[in-house]
Amino acid sequence: MKLNNKVALITGASQGIGRAIALNLASEKINLALVGRNEAKLKTVADECIKFGVRVKIYPLDLADTSKIPSLIESVKADFNSLSVLVNNAGTYANGNPFESNLKDWDYALDLNFKAVYHLTNQALKLISENDDGAIINISSIAGQMTYKGGEIYCATKYAVRAYSNCLFESVREKNIKVTCIFPGYVNTEMGRGENLDESKMIQPDDIALTVNSFLKTPLTACQTEIVIRPQRTPYK
Ligand SMILES: NC(=O)c1ccc[n+]([C@@H]2O[C@H](COP(=O)([O-])OP(=O)(O)OC[C@H]3O[C@@H](n4cnc5c(N)ncnc54)[C@H](OP(=O)(O)O)[C@@H]3O)[C@@H](O)[C@H]2O)c1
Repeated sequence: MKLNNKVALITGASQGIGRAIALNLASEKINLALVGRNEAKLKTVADECIKFGVRVKIYPLDLADTSKIPSLIESVKADFNSLSVLVNNAGTYANGNPFESNLKDWDYALDLNFKAVYHLTNQALKLISENDDGAIINISSIAGQMTYKGGEIYCATKYAVRAYSNCLFESVREKNIKVTCIFPGYVNTEMGRGENLDESKMIQPDDIALTVNSFLKTPLTACQTEIVIRPQRTPYK
């Protein structure tokens, strides 16, 4: 699709992968609606993006409260009158212990990692469908492709995003709306870093941004519905 002067909404844009995607799309002259909870960090990212000569608006919001999502899309419509690209990136990590009785972390992770994705997509499609083409990019995880001990919450939410994303592609493909689900391994961000990991060998946020860029530039006749990204070398120390 042609990127110049389109509008993209990116969640989790205040840092990490979302920030990298925002900067990359700004460099392609895409106008940006940036969502996250931390207003100051969003403003910093917006200021960096504006240097590319694009329009940027920030929407500080806790997406785990899905009741706020319809008014978010109303605000984006009022500010830009258009939307072509949705990047569902905001997410949280949680370890799952099946013996625990306090399930607050489970509900929060499901609300943010999965429910916000389909609430936002449902609302955003009203705007995206008005265009000749569009794209929805869902950031899952390698944990949406393989399970591990302690991954009960995180894997469940990321597998859910994968299933949803593939069904969504079937539902919107005839409207020329591309859908992809990206499955990164360890990425060098606040969420991904760990004492046992070598940051220089982790996937870098810009690597994910380049993947999104290349997906958007794929000709209208093709769509990569699933993209797995692994660190080239093992990042374990
Ligand atoms: N890092 C990895 O190794 C890795 C691997 C595979 C997949 N992923 C996925 O990649 C996505 C981005 O993660 P990241 O690595 O860039 O992590 P990160 O640096 O921790 O960034 C997470 C982003 O999500 C936003 N966010 C968190 N909770 C939110 C909420 N309740 N409402 C709105 N925004 C919220 C944060 O902004 P605020 O704090 O301002 O709200 C931040 O911008 C996530 O979906 C994650 O599961 C990461």
